[in-house]
Amino acid sequence: MKVLVTGGAGFIGSNLTDALVARGDQVRVLDNFSTGHEANLAAVAQRIELVRADLRDAAAVKAACVGVDVVFHEGAMPSVPRSVDDPATSFAVNAMGTLNVLLGAKECGVKRVVYAASSSAYGDTAVLPKREDMLQQPQSPYAADKVHGENLCRVFTRVYGLECVALRYFNVYGPRQRPDSAYAAVIPKFIDALLRGEAARIDGDGGQSRDFTFVRDVVEANLLAAVAPKAPGQVMNIGAGGRIDLLTLLREIAAATGVPARANHGPDRAGDVRDSQADISLAQRILGYNPNTPLSTGLKATVDWFLAQRAPVENERKSS
Ligand SMILES: NC(=O)c1ccc[n+]([C@@H]2O[C@H](COP(=O)([O-])OP(=O)(O)OC[C@H]3O[C@@H](n4cnc5c(N)ncnc54)[C@H](O)[C@@H]3O)[C@@H](O)[C@H]2O)c1
Repeated sequence: MKVLVTGGAGFIGSNLTDALVARGDQVRVLDNFSTGHEANLAAVAQRIELVRADLRDAAAVKAACVGVDVVFHEGAMPSVPRSVDDPATSFAVNAMGTLNVLLGAKECGVKRVVYAASSSAYGDTAVLPKREDMLQQPQSPYAADKVHGENLCRVFTRVYGLECVALRYFNVYGPRQRPDSAYAAVIPKFIDALLRGEAARIDGDGGQSRDFTFVRDVVEANLLAAVAPKAPGQVMNIGAGGRIDLLTLLREIAAATGVPARANHGPDRAGDVRDSQADISLAQRILGYNPNTPLSTGLKATVDWFLAQRAPVENERKSS
């Protein structure tokens, strides 16, 4: 199969690219490297086609769709706080960029588009777990733009017959998720802090909970969504199906790193939701999705990646 992965140099996109290359697909990656990194593609660089382009450039996106069977649309400006600071860029990349992908795919005769949607669509409702038939209640520009993208996916399936599948990811974590941006996710930030011997910074009291999903399970969901006969037109939750609060998470990370947990509490973050947990029964039924990575296993793989990143730096320090 010939596939296009937008955002393929990013955390999730590069893990997906690895899996697609490993199973023998012809993979084209489109990325502008704004938050993605070439190092993420180093292992497959000789076996993929790399297009340096921006999702906001409709012509470049369309050109990248030529000859493609399936598009995995992972590219985005994936940050709630950054979208609060800069809603115009969030809209241009996340909403318009998705329209560009769908138009390009339609015009090039792509068979299916699998879209990275977000659990932020549910907002701060008290009802748990989140089910797909609940109201969309985005609380940030990012969430609104991701919802716009999934609505476009539904419409393109219905109006133009382009098979689109939207997967609402719940707090994905794993190797290649970076701790060094102001908008980084909590797991890499906690791991990085503990490995540096620092206190982990917690926004708020640490009682907020999330459904943390290992990236390998998300990759598997994408591979299933690309072929499942009943998937087109659907919006489906992709989580682990449980939830864990940040204080417990920090203790788990302390166990995985072997470093005692220390926390430093700050104020709540603008636009954040309190609790999140996925009902994954729809994806189980339609995709045969079966997330089976225990948190301890996923955290260990993530910590191992961090240690491997640090090893060359440590060795250099010791030898100088
Ligand atoms: N990580 C999560 O927990 C999570 C949760 C819900 C949804 N998502 C969605 O999953 C997708 C992947 O997220 P990620 O965590 O891997 O983030 P990431 O930042 O690692 O990856 C995003 C990729 O998109 C690229 N990109 C950004 N703007 C671009 C542009 N204008 N043109 C071309 N490429 C551009 C970046 O360079 C990067 O490689 C995103 O669509 C995000 O909204 C992620």
